[in-house]
Amino acid sequence: MRILVTGGAGFIGSNFVQLTRRTRPDVRITVLDKLTYAGSLASLAGVLDEVTFVEGDVADGALVDRLVADQDVVVHFAAESHNDNSLADPSPFVHTNVVGTFTVLEAVRRHDVRYHHISTDEVYGDLALDDPGKFTPDTAYNPSSPYSATKAGSDLLVRAWVRSFGVRATISNCSNNYGPRQHVEKFIPRQITNILDGQRPKLYGAGRNVRDWIHVDDHNTAVWAIIEAGRVGQTYLIGADGEADNRTVIETILELMGQPADAFDQVTDRAGHDLRYAIDARLVREELGWEPRFGDFLDGLAATIEWYRANEAWWRPMKAATEAKYALSQRIQS
Ligand code: NAD
Ligand code: DAU
Repeated sequence: MRILVTGGAGFIGSNFVQLTRRTRPDVRITVLDKLTYAGSLASLAGVLDEVTFVEGDVADGALVDRLVADQDVVVHFAAESHNDNSLADPSPFVHTNVVGTFTVLEAVRRHDVRYHHISTDEVYGDLALDDPGKFTPDTAYNPSSPYSATKAGSDLLVRAWVRSFGVRATISNCSNNYGPRQHVEKFIPRQITNILDGQRPKLYGAGRNVRDWIHVDDHNTAVWAIIEAGRVGQTYLIGADGEADNRTVIETILELMGQPADAFDQVTDRAGHDLRYAIDARLVREELGWEPRFGDFLDGLAATIEWYRANEAWWRPMKAATEAKYALSQRIQS
């Protein structure tokens, strides 16, 4: 099989490439990545010689057409992915997430290539903290941020290209990923690297917001299950029943790293901050037989802390610029 992985130098895409090299050595991988601030060739260390790497933009129609023409499958991870950045400047989100997805869809349509679209549970908006429900594939779209609105737009393009043009596409909407090689702008790596730097973790507001955590390798095994056996036109929700509120996650990281559980700062809350995400993953479990392997969030978190301890050379180059950007808008409240 020949597969084009867009965004393969980012967090989830690079872990997908690494996992695929370990488990499917016969698959021939081409990575297309613009190497924005969020992409790094260091994330492909150990496999760079075994893949074809192309630096470029998913919205570059000629380049994407040429690459897609030679593939059996395209899996589209490339995106602007951070909500806080989308609040500061939405424009790259519209370019990459909407125009980029449109560009890839047109290429897979022309060349009749199987397409898998990586998306997020944030397209559904949020749930109330006391709502016992979870998101399902039938939940109505109701995105809150410029990031999630552009991801919702990209999903709807995929659905239209399936129905109108017969494109052979599937979509997955996954909950919050954690694990190695995640940019230090994101919640868990930001707190781990702050503590390693002797700085206090930063909690937005009261920290009652709930996220549904899944290890990145579990996300990617589900993506492979969908590529191999998913039904064209179907949306699959991916999650591992990992709900936890942000305050509890920060306290847990502090304890795992030998610090007092209350040694964090509360900072300016995120505008429009979604309250709770929760995934009903029954379809991917029951139809495709997928099961998460990292059942215990505590063990996965401890392993992630060890990865950042052992790989300072990977995250150090991005840390100061990330914190400087946050300092422009975030103030300590208590
Ligand atoms: P990331 O920000 O770590 O990586 C994004 C990658 O895309 C980077 O390598 C970047 O260089 C590349 N990229 C950005 N713009 C590009 C462009 N115009 N052309 C080519 N490459 C470009 O993101 P991530 O967290 O790995 O997320 C990957 C995908 O998974 C996204 O589609 C995201 O919406 C989705 N997702 C993420 C999560 C999560 O928790 N991180 C959960 C569910 C879904
Ligand atoms: O649900 C899937 C989504 O998860 C993906 O689509 C996004 O690409 C990914 O970034 C993530 O979005 P979130 O906004 O949930 O993730 P983030 O890591 O930015 O924040 C997680 C929670 O932690 C959120 O409630 C905000 C809070 N937070 C975040 C940071 C960076 C803090 O309290 N302190 C922080 O320093």
